[in-house]
Amino acid sequence: MSQPTIESILQENRLFQPPAEFAQAAHINSWEAYEQLYAQAQADPASFWAGLAERELHWFEPWQQVLDWHPPHVKWFVGGKINIAYNCLDRHLTTWRRNKAALIWEGEPGDSRTLTYAQLHREVCQFANVLKQLGVNKGDRVGIYMPMIPEAAIAMLACARIGAPHSVVFGGFSAEALRDRLIDAEAKLVVTADGGWRKDAIVPLKEQVDRAIANDAVPTVENVLVVERTKQKIHMEPGRDHWWHDLRVGVSADCPAEPMDSEDMLFILYTSGSTGKPKGVVHTTGGYNLYTHITSQWIFDLKDTDVYWCTADVGWITGHSYIVYGPLSNGATTLMYEGAPRASNPGCFWDVIEKYGVTIFYTAPTAIRAFIKMGEHHPKSRNLSSLRLLGTVGEPINPEAWMWYYRVIGQERCPIVDTWWQTETGGIMITPLPGAIPTKPGSATRPFPGILADVVDLEGNPVGVNEGGYLVIRHPWPGMMRTVYKDPDRFRRTYWEHIPPKDGQYLYFAGDGARRDEQGYFWVMGRVDDVISVAGHRLGTMEIESALVSHPAVAEAAVVGKPDEVKGEEVVAFVTLEGEYVPSEALAQELKQHVVQEIGAIARPGEIRFSEALPKTRSGKIMRRLLRSLAADQEVSGDTSTLEDRSVLDKLRGGA
Ligand code: WT7
Repeated sequence: MSQPTIESILQENRLFQPPAEFAQAAHINSWEAYEQLYAQAQADPASFWAGLAERELHWFEPWQQVLDWHPPHVKWFVGGKINIAYNCLDRHLTTWRRNKAALIWEGEPGDSRTLTYAQLHREVCQFANVLKQLGVNKGDRVGIYMPMIPEAAIAMLACARIGAPHSVVFGGFSAEALRDRLIDAEAKLVVTADGGWRKDAIVPLKEQVDRAIANDAVPTVENVLVVERTKQKIHMEPGRDHWWHDLRVGVSADCPAEPMDSEDMLFILYTSGSTGKPKGVVHTTGGYNLYTHITSQWIFDLKDTDVYWCTADVGWITGHSYIVYGPLSNGATTLMYEGAPRASNPGCFWDVIEKYGVTIFYTAPTAIRAFIKMGEHHPKSRNLSSLRLLGTVGEPINPEAWMWYYRVIGQERCPIVDTWWQTETGGIMITPLPGAIPTKPGSATRPFPGILADVVDLEGNPVGVNEGGYLVIRHPWPGMMRTVYKDPDRFRRTYWEHIPPKDGQYLYFAGDGARRDEQGYFWVMGRVDDVISVAGHRLGTMEIESALVSHPAVAEAAVVGKPDEVKGEEVVAFVTLEGEYVPSEALAQELKQHVVQEIGAIARPGEIRFSEALPKTRSGKIMRRLLRSLAADQEVSGDTSTLEDRSVLDKLRGGA
C-alpha cells in the first residue's frame, strides 16, 4: 500500500460507470444531465444559484440581489431573510417527515437514541430558550466543545435558531488550543459535557474548559452550559456553570426562528494554515444553507428511504456540513456515532451499518487504510447489503484503498464519491455525481455545477493536460468562506494573492496541487504549503513548531510530514536544544507530551529528531524540502546550493 504518487495515478485508467439501476433513480441521472447543469451554471451562475435557492429553501423575505462580488468579498442573496435551523427543522414539521427519524445516535458504551424531526425541533427550541435565559443574544458567539452526542447538533441548531454564531472546537483539542479559539471568537458562553467517550476512555471535557478559562483567561465567557454524559465527578463553579438538565426544566419549547440576514454570520470554524495561529473561517447563513443543501442532495443522492452516515466529528467542517446542516435541510435521516474503530472493537463501523441499515456511508481514506490492516473478515462477517453509495473525504485516496473500499465494503455495487473540498469552501467542490459521472480510483473527477475549478501556474495561466499546477476556483460560489474572523487582510493574503488576479479575474487559491487529465478529471495531489494531514486532520507545521519552542529545552524546531501507510502523514520534528540540555529518549517523550498539551493528541509528533543545527538558506529560511527527504529516509535530491552550511546536512544525515 502506498500514498498516491504522480507515477501511480498517472497509470490509473480504470473507469467505473454508474450502475444503471442507481443512475435511473438518481437526482442527476446521466452524464448529459450533469454537462447541461454545468454549462447552465457556467453561463449564468447568478441565475443558476437563484433558481435553486428559490426552489429548495424557505425564505422569510426574498433577496434584492443574488450576487454582490467585490473581490475578494462576496455576498449572496443580499437582503434575503432566512434561518438555517428553520430550513433544517420547522419546514419538515408540516409534512409527513414530522415523525421521521431526523437523527439516529449510536453512543459508545452501547447507548442509542433516535430523534424524530418533531422531537429534534423541540429539543432545539428548548436549548435555544435556555441560551437566551443565559444572556445569549443575536450576534453573540457561543463556543461548543462537545463529544459526539445529539446535544452537539442540538446546540449548533439552537445557536443558529437565535442567530448566535457558534464556534465548535473539536473535543480532541487541548485546553490551551480551546482557550486560543475562545479568546479569538470572544465567546460569551461555552457549551460542553462532563466528559466524552473516546476509545474506551473518558475525555474530561469540562475539566479542559475549566483549565481553558481559569484565571479569567477568556474574560468574555460568562456562563458554561454542561450536558451530562459520562457522569464522573466534575467541579461546577457556582454562578458560572449550569447543568443543561437543570436549566431546561419548565422551559418553553416555543422559540420562533430568528429571521437572519442572508449574510449574517452562521459560524466560525478554526482551521490551520501555513503561518501563524489557526484562522477563524467565517461562514454566513443563506449561501451556506443553499450550498450544503444542494451538494448533499445531488452528491449523496439523498432520498427519504436513506439512512445516511458520515463518520466525521462535528468539530470539523465535514460534521457541520454533512452530518448536521446539509442532511437535515433535506429532511434526511442522519446518523451520528460516538465511537471510533480500535483494536478492541475493529468491526464497530460494520455493526452500525448492519444495525441501522445504513444506505450511504461517508468516511476518510485514513479510516479505510486502517480497515485494510484490520482485515477483510470484519466487514465480511457483517451484512452490508443495505449500502448503496460510498464516499470519501479529507485527503487523496490511493487507488489501492479505493479498490478495497469498492470491492469489500461496496461489494462492487456501490458508486464511490471521492469529494474534494475544504473548511473554507463550506461544501464539496470536486466530486462525482454518483448517477452521472464515471469514476476513476484516486480522482475526485469533476467540479460540481457552478464551480469553475482550474489548474494554473503561479502567474494564473492554465497548465496543460496532465501537467501539475495549483488548484484554483474562478468564480465565487454560495458556500465559500466570507473572511477570516477579525482579519480580512489575512483572508486576502492567504487565498487571493498567491496567484495574482489575471485579466481582472480573481482566483481562489486552495493551497493544493493538482492536475487534470484528458477527460478533464481532477487529480488532487495534496498541499503545496506547510500544512500537513495526519489521519485526515489538517495541521499547520508552524503551530507545532511554536508549541515545541514554548518548551524551555527547545531552541529551534522544524516540523515536516513523513509519509505514513495508514495516517497519510506523520509528524516529524527536528529540534535543536538550548545549551544546557542534552538529547535523550526521556526528553523526546516530554516534548511529544508537551505538543499534546499545547494542541492536542492529533498533533503528537511520531518522531523527534535532535540535531545540532537546522539546514537553512543564506537568508535564514529553514529548508523544509531537505528535512522532508531526511524524514522520509530518502536521498536528498534537488538543488542544495542555497544551503548555508553544508556540514549541517551531513550531520543530519548521519543521524543525531
Ligand atoms: C484539505 C482541506 C473538507 C473536509 C475535510 C478536510 C485535503 C480534502 C480531499 C480529497 C484530496 C483532499 C486537501 C484540502 N482534501 N478532501 N477528496 N482529495 N485531498 O477539510 O481540514 O479544511 O482540509 O484536505 O488538501 O485542501 P480541511
